Amino acid sequence: MKGKFITVEGSDGSGKTSFINFATEYLKEKGYKVITTREPGGTEFSEKVRELLFDSSNDIDAKTESLLFCASRRDHIVKKILPHVNDGYIVICDRFVDSSVAYQSYGRGLSKQDILNINSYATDNLEPDLTLYFCVDVEVGLARTKNRDDNNRMDQESLDFYKNVKRGYDDLSRENTERIKVIDASDTYENVQKKALAILEGFLNNEL
Ligand code: TYD
Repeated sequence: MKGKFITVEGSDGSGKTSFINFATEYLKEKGYKVITTREPGGTEFSEKVRELLFDSSNDIDAKTESLLFCASRRDHIVKKILPHVNDGYIVICDRFVDSSVAYQSYGRGLSKQDILNINSYATDNLEPDLTLYFCVDVEVGLARTKNRDDNNRMDQESLDFYKNVKRGYDDLSRENTERIKVIDASDTYENVQKKALAILEGFLNNEL
């Protein structure tokens, strides 16, 4: 039986990564076959591209950046996402194409149609079965990440940049109501995790 491809999206500080860890353990205990992965990254090659993208000493323009995200995504799909979905796994991926639309188009100002086009080429139009979007006000999210010490090239943007990214996610969630489920991530940590898990379990109970 085929598995499922689930992506988790949201701005920095939305709590999505904690949720992925928590949900993965929970689903494994329930007996599901689950793997967790992330973008950029997920394969040996794509983790190398991630290093290039995050290295603050690399001065790359927005189009170069968007193409590197696509190249790493393609390798990730071919070598990890599709083989596992075809083998019956639930693949939970931290970020996917929606991140490129939100960050490279709404954030960096590249054409949305161009980003969709290069990604449709890179992914052969692979779409997640479900996307959980952790939605939080930019100021709240940034305050939560202020004390992290792993800042990289992608974390050095202005407030306006992050506001545009959020606008991107909000637009995407309105344009894809079937696929993208919005989770209000401004609530307490426990409530956010509970709400997101309920949506994920509801989906799996219906689909598998
Ligand atoms: P990461 O360190 O994985 O953490 P988080 O997801 O918690 O922010 O950061 C990934 C960064 O890469 C983040 O700033 C968003 C950015 N990104 C893009 O700009 N475009 C993309 O297509 C993807 C997958 C990520």
